[in-house]
Amino acid sequence: MAVRSLLSVDRCHKSHIMKYAFCGRSGLLLPKISLGLWHNFGSVDNFDTATAMILRAFEQGVTHFDLANNYGPEPGSAETNFGRILKENLLAHRDEMIISSKAGYDMWPGPYGTGSSRKNLMASCDQSLKRTGLEYFDIFYSHRYDGVTPVEETMQALIDIVHQGKALYAGISNYPADKQQECYNILREAHVPCLISQYNYSMLNRGPETTTIPVAAANGSGYICFSPLQQGLLTDRYLNGIPENSRAARSTGFLQLNQVTPERVEAARKLNEIAARRGQSLAQMALAWVLRDERVTSVLIGASSLQQLDNNLQTLENLEFTAEELHEIDVILQVPGIAFNK
Ligand SMILES: NC(=O)c1ccc[n+]([C@@H]2O[C@H](COP(=O)([O-])OP(=O)(O)OC[C@H]3O[C@@H](n4cnc5c(N)ncnc54)[C@H](OP(=O)(O)O)[C@@H]3O)[C@@H](O)[C@H]2O)c1
Repeated sequence: MAVRSLLSVDRCHKSHIMKYAFCGRSGLLLPKISLGLWHNFGSVDNFDTATAMILRAFEQGVTHFDLANNYGPEPGSAETNFGRILKENLLAHRDEMIISSKAGYDMWPGPYGTGSSRKNLMASCDQSLKRTGLEYFDIFYSHRYDGVTPVEETMQALIDIVHQGKALYAGISNYPADKQQECYNILREAHVPCLISQYNYSMLNRGPETTTIPVAAANGSGYICFSPLQQGLLTDRYLNGIPENSRAARSTGFLQLNQVTPERVEAARKLNEIAARRGQSLAQMALAWVLRDERVTSVLIGASSLQQLDNNLQTLENLEFTAEELHEIDVILQVPGIAFNK
């Protein structure tokens, strides 16, 4: 297993530097950097920029694109836009892509448009297929544990979605550590093993190191980290104030202004100095740091421009850390009050 999980495949037929790794115990290779469409691909965003980023990503070997029913804004519009971009540019390449979607957060009015019930998942998957124009998703996730629905009910919905051919693989996201094992057990017994587990993991949220990462690894599930740049806090974006068009400044951005605290900015500044010594941007170092753990299959980045995307992809040119660098980073991350707890 150790050799298998270390294996990366360099696809030399294109000009990219992408590396791929097997997703958990499965036979599916995922790119070490995947692109998420939570922000910057909705109806409020620039369609040409969104198109350019998807095409550049694919050209550079990013074969995995991550969606959810509610991505936008408006909710649903990221799926609609992705479907259009695919149809207009990449349809011939569908079999070269891994496209995921999810259901679980608020989507449509009334009691069935949210949560982890079978009703919500089945209806939502159908809606997402319609919006994207896809015949199937490669991965369909339960986006969250809603605190009420029995895990058996939600997992059975995922199993049935796979059996119906609407998705090739099942995944879970944001399940608390005490429910995570239950999900794996149910899916494994049904011979639809959990391909992948999606959680927030970054320098500013190290909780998963002792909770969900080891459980996923022990169960042969791949692990994909969302918001590895903690929505921009682990980049140079906020080192000199709050830029006008940044996620923290935009009314549609999920990062709140009060989360950009002086303590976090100070930590980012110190991390940036280490990154500079390594010849990297802070974003590149933050991504490489998450990927240093071999149990992490892929990092799921966001980007608002081609420049950011290109910068992030170049991370793969230097994934190595010295013990001294890791120690220096550890010390910076121990400052009280900077961590997010998810
Ligand atoms: N399962 C879940 O519950 C869940 C939750 C959240 C996210 N996700 C997934 O994870 C994906 C990524 O999340 P995320 O967008 O929060 O990821 P992220 O990579 O932590 O943050 C992306 C933001 O960081 C800034 N940025 C990116 N690269 C940069 C660079 N090189 N230099 C300077 N700034 C840079 C940009 O901010 P500006 O916009 O300010 O330019 C960009 O929008 C989502 O699209 C989604 O697919 C899943």
